[in-house]
Amino acid sequence: MPLQNEYAIEIENLVKKFGDLTAVNGISLKIKKGEIFGLLGPNGAGKSTTINMLLGLLSPTSGKISVNGINMLKEPEKAKGQIGIVTQETVVEPELTAEDNLMIFGRLYQIPADELQKDIDFALKLSDLESFRKAYAGTFSGGMKRRLETAKALMHTPQVLLLDEPTTGLDVQNRSKIWNLLRKINKEQNVTILMTTQYLEEADQLCNRIAIIDHGKLIALGTPSELRQKIGMSTVLEVEADKDSLQKVEQIFRKIGLDPRISGNKVFAAGGAKPVEKVERILKLLSAGKIDAHNISMHEPTIDDVFLKLTGSAVRDETGDFKGGRQSAMLGRGR
Ligand SMILES: Nc1ncnc2c1ncn2[C@@H]1O[C@H](COP(=O)(O)OP(=O)(O)OP(=O)(O)O)[C@@H](O)[C@H]1O
Ligand SMILES: [Mg+2]
Repeated sequence: MPLQNEYAIEIENLVKKFGDLTAVNGISLKIKKGEIFGLLGPNGAGKSTTINMLLGLLSPTSGKISVNGINMLKEPEKAKGQIGIVTQETVVEPELTAEDNLMIFGRLYQIPADELQKDIDFALKLSDLESFRKAYAGTFSGGMKRRLETAKALMHTPQVLLLDEPTTGLDVQNRSKIWNLLRKINKEQNVTILMTTQYLEEADQLCNRIAIIDHGKLIALGTPSELRQKIGMSTVLEVEADKDSLQKVEQIFRKIGLDPRISGNKVFAAGGAKPVEKVERILKLLSAGKIDAHNISMHEPTIDDVFLKLTGSAVRDETGDFKGGRQSAMLGRGR
C-alpha cells in the first residue's frame, strides 16, 4: 500500500494570498484516516480559507493538497468526490421539509433512485431527525439545521467530512448533540473529520489532534495532552481582576518568583513547585494590597492556556485591548 494512503488529507506548504494579504501562510498538515482533527484559531486566522481550498472552492496561490492520495490540483473532481462538506453558513432550504432537503441533495449527487430513500432514512436516523422528517427546515432550531446539513453532507457516503465551525453560535445542548453526531459518524462510519472551531473546549474534548493557527500560520500541532505538555506548565495559577489592578497582580506574581503573563483580564503563570503555597502567598499579598480579585484559580493547563502561552506574546500585548478582547470573546469560553 502506498504510504500516502495512511492519510486522508495531506497539505504541503499551502499559501493563499488575497492581494497584499496572506490569509494562509505556508501550512503543512497530514491528517490520518479515522482522525477527528480540529483547526483551531480566532476570527480571521485563515480557517475557512484553508477549508475552502480543500473543497476546491478556492485555488491555492501555491502548495499541494491531496485527499486520500488524490491530488486536488490535478484531479479536482475525483478528490472532491471523497469529501462531504458542511460550510460556515447554514444552507438548508427553509421552505422544504427535512426529507426533501436530503432528497434534492441526493439527486444533485446522482444517487440512484432505488437507493435514495434508504440513504435519506439512514441520514435522518443518524442525525436524530427522524421524527422531524416532514417538518419544514425553516422551523428548525440552529442546532437542528446544522444536524440536517451534516446529514446532507453524508448522503453520498464520503470518506472525509469537512466542517467549518459546525457549532458556532449554538447553545450548549445543541453543541453537544453535534459532538455526539460527529463521534458517531467517525466511529460507526469510519469517516475522517476535519473541522474548524473557535471553541477551545470543543477542540479539547472532541478532537484527537489539534492544529492551532493564527495569522495564517500553524503555531502548534498535537493531541490535546501533547499541547498541554508542550507549554511546560504542570499547574497554572491564575488571577482574574479589573484591568486597573492587573499590573499590581503581575507584580505580586513576580514577587513570589513566578513568570506571569497578562491576557484579557487575567494574570497567569506556570505554578512550578508547591503551587498551593504560592496560591496562599498570592492571597495574602492581594489582601495586603487591597486588590480586588474576581477569581483565583489553580488548575491543570487547558488548551486555553496553550493558546494564551503561544499567542499572548509581547507583540500581541503591544496591540492592547483588541487582541485581548478578541481572545476572551472568541476563545475564552473554553473553561
Ligand atoms: N475572498 C477574500 N478576499 C479577500 N480577503 C479574504 C477573503 N476571504 C478571506 N479573506 C481574509 O483572509 C483572512 C482569513 O480569513 P478566513 O475567513 O479564512 O478566517 P477564519 O479563520 O475562517 O475566520 P472566522 O473565524 O471569522 O470564520 C481574513 O483576514 C479575511 O478577511
Ligand atoms: Mg471562517
